[in-house]
Amino acid sequence: MSNSSEAELTHTFKGILFTIRSSPELLKSLDAFDAREDDVLLVSYPKSGTHWLAGVITNLYESQITITSPIEFGDISKLEELNQLSSKRIIPTHLNYNMLPPNFKNKKCKMIYLSRNPKDTAVSMYHYYRENPNLPTIDTWSSFFDLFLKGNVVCGSWFDHFLSWEEHNDDKNILFLFYEDMKKDLSGVVKKIASFLSLNVSDKDIQDICKKSSFSVMKNDTEKENNDPHHTVCALTSNRKMVFRKGVVGDWKNHFTPKQNMRFEEIFNEKMKLSKM
Ligand code: A3P
Repeated sequence: MSNSSEAELTHTFKGILFTIRSSPELLKSLDAFDAREDDVLLVSYPKSGTHWLAGVITNLYESQITITSPIEFGDISKLEELNQLSSKRIIPTHLNYNMLPPNFKNKKCKMIYLSRNPKDTAVSMYHYYRENPNLPTIDTWSSFFDLFLKGNVVCGSWFDHFLSWEEHNDDKNILFLFYEDMKKDLSGVVKKIASFLSLNVSDKDIQDICKKSSFSVMKNDTEKENNDPHHTVCALTSNRKMVFRKGVVGDWKNHFTPKQNMRFEEIFNEKMKLSKM
């Protein structure tokens, strides 16, 4: 990674790397954010399937909702912009639990935490870094692999992110989901989300939602969305095609060397020692 481009495109806040699209002023002001009791948070580490989850949720609601850009993206005017929204707010975020505005916790807002095998997440993030001019330049997979393990990538360490949220595994207002479960049994996961959000949906609705949120349909839809200035989840690029790459489980096997895999497993086992999941 070239230092100049890293310095131009990123900054560190509370020890975590952010892109300059998250202004320090906004990050500082997040603690004062005024949550609403009916806000729903979509929480994930980057490249865990946030757009997929957002697609499912959009199709689940019949009433008018607004899926905003991640709360930490933008400048200081972001909070006022969110305040102005009159419809129900679905707010994505990549923040770890400790950085989440306390008002969301105090008001017990519903939160959905989506996680993905960190090996596939690392590979997905590597390709996103490679293609996205708003992220620092990466020379090789091997150099990105080191950065990922050290947590020197945007949004910090995958392990710290997961562990900070997993501590709240028993909180009734947080639903934990896995990308791999969505791949295996999307309709089962959609039912779970509907029940968590207290939404009534028929089996037919669920079938329709699964069709509309399949990888191929969502990828095809990107052409249309690319021309729509209101698509907002992907705040680091206006090119949605970049987000829908392969959409599979296990692509890490095409990137990890046996040595990298061993190193990853060692670090995973050490860091996740205290994990219950
Ligand atoms: P890959 O890069 O492995 O293909 P995010 O939305 O958090 O940025 O995550 C992007 C990842 O989710 C990408 O992974 C993308 O292909 C995958 N994804 C997006 N929509 C999907 C869908 N409908 N089904 C399966 N995977 C999907």
